[in-house]
Amino acid sequence: MIKYLTTHPWKIVEEGFNPKHQRSSESIFSIGNGRFGQRANHEETYTGPTLQGSYVAGVYYPDKTRVGWWKNGYPEYFAKVLNSINWTGIRVFIDGEELDLAVCSTANFRRELDMQRGILLRSFDVTTISGKQARVESIRFCSMADDETAVIRYSVTPLNFDGTIRFMPYLDGDVHNHDSNYDEKFWEPISAEAWSGGGTVVCRTKKTVFDVAASMQLTLHANGAEQSAPFAEFSRDFFSENEVEVTVKSNETVSLFKYVGLVSSLNYSATELGNAAKTAAERAKSKGFDAMLNAQTDAWATIWEMADIQISGDDEAQQAIRFNIFHLNQTYTGEDSRLNIGPKGFTGEKYGGSTYWDTEAYCIPFYMSTKNQHVARQLLVYRHNQLEKAIENARKLGFTGGAALYPMVTMNGEECHNEWEITFEEIHRNGAIAYAIHNYIRYTGDHAYLAEYGIDVLTGIARFWAQRVHWSEAKGMYVMHGVTGPNEYENNVNNNWYTSYIARWCMQYAMEALNYVKANHSSAYTEKTKALNFDEAAELKQWQHIIDHLYLGAKEGSRIYLQQDGFLDKELRNASSLNQSERPINQHWSWDRILRSCFIKQADVLQGIYFFEEDFDMETIRENFDFYEPMTVHESSLSPCVHSILAAKLGYEEKAYEMYMRTSRLDLDDYNHEAHEGLHITSMAGTWMSIVQGFGGMRVVNDKLTFNPMLPKKWKGFSFKVMFRGEVKTLKVGE
Ligand code: BGC
Repeated sequence: MIKYLTTHPWKIVEEGFNPKHQRSSESIFSIGNGRFGQRANHEETYTGPTLQGSYVAGVYYPDKTRVGWWKNGYPEYFAKVLNSINWTGIRVFIDGEELDLAVCSTANFRRELDMQRGILLRSFDVTTISGKQARVESIRFCSMADDETAVIRYSVTPLNFDGTIRFMPYLDGDVHNHDSNYDEKFWEPISAEAWSGGGTVVCRTKKTVFDVAASMQLTLHANGAEQSAPFAEFSRDFFSENEVEVTVKSNETVSLFKYVGLVSSLNYSATELGNAAKTAAERAKSKGFDAMLNAQTDAWATIWEMADIQISGDDEAQQAIRFNIFHLNQTYTGEDSRLNIGPKGFTGEKYGGSTYWDTEAYCIPFYMSTKNQHVARQLLVYRHNQLEKAIENARKLGFTGGAALYPMVTMNGEECHNEWEITFEEIHRNGAIAYAIHNYIRYTGDHAYLAEYGIDVLTGIARFWAQRVHWSEAKGMYVMHGVTGPNEYENNVNNNWYTSYIARWCMQYAMEALNYVKANHSSAYTEKTKALNFDEAAELKQWQHIIDHLYLGAKEGSRIYLQQDGFLDKELRNASSLNQSERPINQHWSWDRILRSCFIKQADVLQGIYFFEEDFDMETIRENFDFYEPMTVHESSLSPCVHSILAAKLGYEEKAYEMYMRTSRLDLDDYNHEAHEGLHITSMAGTWMSIVQGFGGMRVVNDKLTFNPMLPKKWKGFSFKVMFRGEVKTLKVGE
């Protein structure tokens, strides 16, 4: 745990500048609007440790795969979210000396993320090497009201001198990805122009040919009034810059306003892109900073009106849930079915900004309950659109007859992951995609989805499982070998209970879905089954046989399900016996040692129990929780939330609270020492579930929303709203 931020119900505050925290803070204080996002890099030059990050939704690069030993079936590339044109940069010179916090000394440094209004603020007093002192204040945001625009106001006030302040605001497309496999640059320049008071840069990704354009419009204010100071312009490939210098007296403030337009070829043709960015920047400028700020405040007020969760009596818990909800809303707005939710959103490069099972297993409930129904539907349709690629992916691995294996990691439906134990074995992801359809329909009542899209995906998935199991003569049952469950600290295991359980459920659900469509949408059924080449009698018979004879391991004489064959032969120890200095074990132990140990990265058997809770009685849930939770190290962000929900169900109030704090403050308190790489956006939806499904006990039973609340001892009360079948429902517990 690394704690350096101040607690406040609506704000994240960092007081005092510590370069050691800079990269983590850049992640934590990130801002975005669903179209693009930006790490909290300093606007001015900073030569200390930093990870520059400006990301544009849907723009990626297929970076050539890098592995030691190539294996057949590996994908050719890993899709990466791209660090794109740096639109925040402003070089600042204080009486001729360049401002750089790695060189100058600072006092009264404060960085603030105002989550209520969606803005990032920074202020500090700086002393240059020659002893000039100045007060610096910056504020910026990515507009939610107009998602092609952003704005920065950057102010400098000399404190102990009369002299010059020079600003050099720029746009720079000559950027690189830290995680580039071969140190390649992913962009090529298309055009760059500058004029007095603005500029535009257009760049194109190599291979994928995505274009991104950024444009800036600049104004200068001194002591509150706009100045007609002449901006000198400069441009070269990838780069556009202006320069302006003013003479100011001590205690007079000079402010630069940088209005930015940022667009991509997802929404404009290559020929109109530069102009579209310019128009957006002009629109921002003509609106003006104050009006943009008001619109931002209003847009966020609308979001908070529906999505806020209030907790009284525990500011740390309150701050944390808002932090999670804030980032989820900045990452994905549900307006565009080509987009999805990368595990790091717009806050870092890790995981490539690609789509994982996280979306279906964790994110759907948040978007389904706090937005209109079509948002969650978009996320399902995203996978339907990629069904052909999933079939092709399965075909490459030797499956036939329309079996579909969705990728573990993808941008466009193609698999990007290239570690064999995950690419080929972590196939449980297919189950989550089917589960999300069920979860969505159970919540929304939108059964028509099955006829329109659902049965295509469910049939492809059921066909995959039917081929992935094999008959064991020894057991007289079907078994599933060579898999990796959600617990990635075990690879290539046989009969992972979670994977087999969800596989069996998928086949059962596909049968039910097909029957439903046959009975209620007969012409769609005929059309679809023909297109799917579905052999009704033979395939249903095969699925049923597997459903009736699939092996699921259990510990004899108990209700405990076996994570995989042989699990009980391990040296079983509680995670509490580990030294703090060894944790997280993935940063201290060899992989070999991790694999042989009993330690569990994230919910595995318990993930299944969470999904299919109604299949198990309370004692079964309890016995499995009591057995597995103590061995779980929660080194995936996706782990604590599931444990918190189950603990709340079991009445383990303290455990539920501990796990809630861990999931909700995972990044704020940097539990796993990785906030510098970006935030855990997808698990933030799990945090939301810990309150709504955990402490709120919300479930859908027979088309009705039910609640079974528990109030953690530390809280005086909590309340939230959810949208259920067109109606807003409010739960208020305690004060
Ligand atoms: C987890 C996976 C998850 C991925 C992205 C990994 O650490 O083990 O379950 O999909 O992170 O969040």
